[in-house]
Amino acid sequence: MAEPQLQVSGISKRFGGLQALSNVSLDANAGEIIGLIGPNGAGKTTLFSNLVGLHRPDSGSVRLQGKELVGLKPHRIAATGMVKTFQNVALFLDSSVLDNVLTGGLMRRSVEGARELARQCLARVGISAIADKLARDLSFPERARVEVARALCTEPRVLLLDEAMAALNHLEMDEFMALLRQLREEGLTLIIVEHHMRAIMSLCQRLVVLNFGQLIATGTPAEISRNPAVVEAYLGRSAAA
Ligand SMILES: Nc1ncnc2c1ncn2[C@@H]1O[C@H](COP(=O)(O)OP(=O)(O)O)[C@@H](O)[C@H]1O
Ligand SMILES: [Mg+2]
Repeated sequence: MAEPQLQVSGISKRFGGLQALSNVSLDANAGEIIGLIGPNGAGKTTLFSNLVGLHRPDSGSVRLQGKELVGLKPHRIAATGMVKTFQNVALFLDSSVLDNVLTGGLMRRSVEGARELARQCLARVGISAIADKLARDLSFPERARVEVARALCTEPRVLLLDEAMAALNHLEMDEFMALLRQLREEGLTLIIVEHHMRAIMSLCQRLVVLNFGQLIATGTPAEISRNPAVVEAYLGRSAAA
């Protein structure tokens, strides 16, 4: 079998006295949707930040198509093909959707080239009609798509989505999930952090579960939903809250 597209091995990260990630390893194959789940504070966002170079792990390795990414700056990692969207959307509110999205393309292209690519990315996520709208006037589902379009404009192979569906209602979530399936069919690898279990269970081929910075389980959605350690991690926290 071909080696996995993304190979994460032994990632550890400490913040002062807090071991936020302990020896976390996972693989992703091209065209897979992987769900990264775990209680609040488990280290999901921190893992994403370590993968894309916003934080440097204390130890471990992140390889994308065999190339080591640890130690590279975020824009170099994006240029290699992996980006993340942000848990709290950070768009330029007084700029248009098109201008927000084209910033993703400036790394590899001229402004004109980035604008052309940005238009393609808007079409790809179904929001060509709002290209000129100001970011501050967007609805939640529009925002979620703009974030994805901006990430796509960096031309990624692996896209990390951090709670992209958080503000969406049921119907909006279904529409967004259809978009993610379409991206997967186009060959993108997706790793998604999501609290909505319905979305996770129906979208993902494989789940990875973090608890207190440790990987406690990995498997298919069916395997994970009957894994006692996973049930304990969720129930234990909610009972303590
Ligand atoms: N920059 C930081 N400095 C110190 N502690 C942090 C930092 N970022 C996250 N943490 C801590 O690391 C732990 C994991 O956080 P996070 O990755 O945001 O969890 P999750 O995304 O799973 O909810 C939490 O205890 C959080 O308070
Ligand atoms: Mg988080």
